[in-house]
Amino acid sequence: MSDELRLHDWQPDRNLGMELVRATEAAAIRATPFVGRGDKNAADGAAVDAMRRFLSTVSMNGTVVIGEGEKDDAPWLYNGERVGNGMGAQCDVAVDPIDGTRLTADGRPGALSVIAVADRGSMYDPSAVFYMNKLVVGPEGVGVVDIRKPIGENIRALAKVKGVETSDIRVAVLDRPRHDQLITDIREAGAGVQLFLDGDVAAGVNAASFDSRVDICVGVGGTPEGIITACAVKALGGQIQGVLAPKDDEERQKALDAGHDLDAVLDQNTLVTSDNTYFVATGITSSDFIEGVRRRGPFLRAESIVMRSHSGTIRRVISDMREDRWGV
Ligand code: FBP
Repeated sequence: MSDELRLHDWQPDRNLGMELVRATEAAAIRATPFVGRGDKNAADGAAVDAMRRFLSTVSMNGTVVIGEGEKDDAPWLYNGERVGNGMGAQCDVAVDPIDGTRLTADGRPGALSVIAVADRGSMYDPSAVFYMNKLVVGPEGVGVVDIRKPIGENIRALAKVKGVETSDIRVAVLDRPRHDQLITDIREAGAGVQLFLDGDVAAGVNAASFDSRVDICVGVGGTPEGIITACAVKALGGQIQGVLAPKDDEERQKALDAGHDLDAVLDQNTLVTSDNTYFVATGITSSDFIEGVRRRGPFLRAESIVMRSHSGTIRRVISDMREDRWGV
């Protein structure tokens, strides 16, 4: 253990994530009656309302920088909204009350409720470009893969460092027509593809986790989701690389006007410059790394993960909540 981390020298401090988890739990619990009901807006509305109420109890001076949209479009948890009780540290807050609204409405796996927090002013502004090309790996892949290289090369490099065959490598990819060529290239390299329908925060975090059955997550998804994933990656010791992917000339120009370098590879330290990041998520429906909300007698059980990069802690929080108290 390094001198820096010797316990007797170390002054433990508050872990904001332990309070934030109540907000993701509440959002997941409130979204649960809408699982499989086909109404993604109703599910999202319930989750947003619950998350917002619980966030107001958290001691922080937070500003939503990644939220439900600009003020006129989103009545709650909009970009720029102040959240928390106004006391304590100033921070950037990224919320996704449901990542995977369609999954929730369809009763499919992989939906979660998530909040990421970092020091004020440290999160990348994702507003200019909606999509980002992303690559996420766990600790063994750090410094080994490069998003600018062909996927086959990255797969071979990852297999080598892990001491496995390329056929043992599994690659998570968002199931979209835009990824058809990528999927072909992955298979031609001899690796397996794990397609997912939505929810690339869960898929990215799963790929960055050291005990995952998925080795790498690649493809184009939301830029805000990339920043949220970066907060988790910093705690997990993995790597995310992103390159902005404007969808048309207008967006390209908007990005250039905003001063973005469209060729730059944005890693976790660019997407979130602070080393004090929190990533808190509660499963709504089950995914590879987290269970969804399930009934246990008179209780609803919610499983959450609470990560903090500064302390390098990853906690699993299991909460049983009396269903009749929650009115769900
Ligand atoms: P929502 O739950 O907000 O709809 O997002 C789901 C999601 O799959 C994200 O995880 C992903 O980054 C994005 O949508 C991909 O966008 P698109 O559906 O346009 O390909």
